[in-house]
Amino acid sequence: MWMNRKWYIILALATVVIVTSAAATITAPEPVNLKVLSKNISSRDLQSIMADDFEDGLGVSCNFCHANAANGHGLDFVSDAKPEKEIARRMMRMTLNINKRWLKNKHPKFGDAALAVQCITCHKGQAFPDANEIK
Ligand code: HEC
Ligand code: HEC
Repeated sequence: MWMNRKWYIILALATVVIVTSAAATITAPEPVNLKVLSKNISSRDLQSIMADDFEDGLGVSCNFCHANAANGHGLDFVSDAKPEKEIARRMMRMTLNINKRWLKNKHPKFGDAALAVQCITCHKGQAFPDANEIK
């Protein structure tokens, strides 16, 4: 009986390890198509840039920039099929440039709270910033 119980616990722990590592690979695969962000970015930093800077900054959801997966399940984050994604890359380069060239931030980085100009500075939670609308 004691042996049974011990094996049961070992099996349960092994299952937890296998399931959690499988979940980690499913939810956070290595990014493969980064042209502006660092290829070594942590999945935590990548997620927070996508959710806080992009989603909240523009007031949109992930699917504003990311195309649907070909198999119909969720989004294909690697794909560049939606033009908004490439526009976002251009905006990222512009934003880094403004900080570096005009605001003398030598190493501007997304996710850095000290970044003077960020997506939200112009977008203010809107996908299409409107210069004629005073808020
Ligand atoms: C405003 C547009 C925009 C929004 C909104 C957005 N993304 Fe992204 N996402 C991008 C761009 C642009 C890249 C590529 C960055 C680069 O080239 O360095 C990217 C890259 C990624 C990648 C890396 C894919 C790979 O392997 O190359 C993941 C994962 C990702 N986004 C997830 C998300 C999630 C999750 C959300 C919603 C919470 C989200 N994105 C919202 C524009 C966006
Ligand atoms: C200096 C101001 C400024 C900053 C900073 C900025 N944007 Fe923009 N963005 C604009 C303006 C203005 C437009 C509208 C351009 C137009 O109407 O042609 C725009 C348009 C866009 C669009 C296209 C919307 C569409 O479908 O036409 C995307 C996507 C976008 N920005 C993403 C971003 C992201 C992501 C960031 C941060 C990395 C960012 N922008 C930072 C000013 C800015």
